[in-house]
Amino acid sequence: MNIVVTGGAGFIGSNFVYYLLKKRPYDRIICYDCLTYAGNYETVMPALAKPNFRFIKGDITDREQVAKLFRTEEPDVVVNFAAESHVDRSIANPDVFLKTNIIGTSVLMDACRDFGIVRYHQVSTDEVYGDLPLDRPDLFFTEMTPLHTSSPYSASKASADLLVMAYHRTYGLPATISRCSNNYGPYHFPEKLIPLMIVKALAGEKLPVYGDGKNVRDWLYVEDHCAAIDLILEKGRIGEVYNIGGHNERANIDVVKTILRALGKGEELIDFVPDRLGHDRRYAIDPAKISEELGWLPETKFDEGISRTIQWYLDNRDWWENILSGEYKKAYEKAAKGKLAYSTL
Ligand code: NAD
Ligand code: DAU
Repeated sequence: MNIVVTGGAGFIGSNFVYYLLKKRPYDRIICYDCLTYAGNYETVMPALAKPNFRFIKGDITDREQVAKLFRTEEPDVVVNFAAESHVDRSIANPDVFLKTNIIGTSVLMDACRDFGIVRYHQVSTDEVYGDLPLDRPDLFFTEMTPLHTSSPYSASKASADLLVMAYHRTYGLPATISRCSNNYGPYHFPEKLIPLMIVKALAGEKLPVYGDGKNVRDWLYVEDHCAAIDLILEKGRIGEVYNIGGHNERANIDVVKTILRALGKGEELIDFVPDRLGHDRRYAIDPAKISEELGWLPETKFDEGISRTIQWYLDNRDWWENILSGEYKKAYEKAAKGKLAYSTL
């Protein structure tokens, strides 16, 4: 099979690429990514040694590039991770979120209709359900929870989900959607809570905690997310939505304190700063459907996953220091000048 992974140079997409390369050595994996600030060519460079991997620099909003991708690579499956993903950036500048997350999704699906596809999978988020109150720990998001978004980011992701369902119903597009809770693990861009706090703590800088720090997120180790998507591709029912999450709820402040303890740093580094606008209070996924229907269960407990993640950032300083210095942006250009193996359309 030819599997196109859009956004495969980002956090979860790159973890999915490595997951597939291990799990499906006989499939061809094509990473299609336009390398925004969040895309990192250095992340996928080790994969270039694999004969069944190809990197293609391209934009999901560009119809011609996408058509060329489909003509040359003949995908059987498209897994769409490509997105603008940071809530704070969507509050500062919604425009690009609408373009990439909504228009980009429709451009990809139009190509799927034109060229034919076995499966289109949309990687969505639990943020499409809005938030839950802190004083109702009995409440969880199910697939039946109404869409109720808070930020331009989550509104753009919910819009994309509606388009996917519309393409399935109107054109018979063989599509599935997954809605996952907060991921953490290797290659997480250091603007998001966990990697940002690790990097700042290591530098002895203040750790900015929004509001009262009591907002709750439901953390899932990224490999468990990858395994869930792979299972949906294998056994998921067309036209269905699957929630993904592992009952690992933590208040932000507790996550930050865990990181500080693990790195031997003091809590005086914590800096409570003004809250994010429209800040969602609590996310919590009910994963009963994917567990009961497909047999998915998360393997990594939060304590183990966070230790592994912190160790990864300690062992891979070059990766994030290159991001902080901006050096990572030059990796693709160097490759394009022939210094490294690469491929493009
Ligand atoms: P990320 O920001 O780390 O990576 C996004 C990738 O998409 C980058 O490599 C970027 O270059 C690429 N991209 C952006 N615009 C593009 C375009 N127009 N054309 C081609 N490529 C483009 O994001 P992430 O955290 O890995 O999230 C991946 C997906 O998973 C997103 O759709 C996000 O909504 C969803 N998701 C994320 C989480 C999470 O906790 N991070 C949880 C649930 C769902
Ligand atoms: O739930 C899934 C979503 O998780 C994904 O769809 C998004 O793409 C992903 O970015 C993530 O969104 P969050 O907004 O939950 O993640 P973020 O890491 O930005 O923030 C996590 C929590 O930490 C949130 O309550 C805000 C808070 N926070 C974040 C940052 C960056 C802080 O307190 N300080 C910070 O500096």
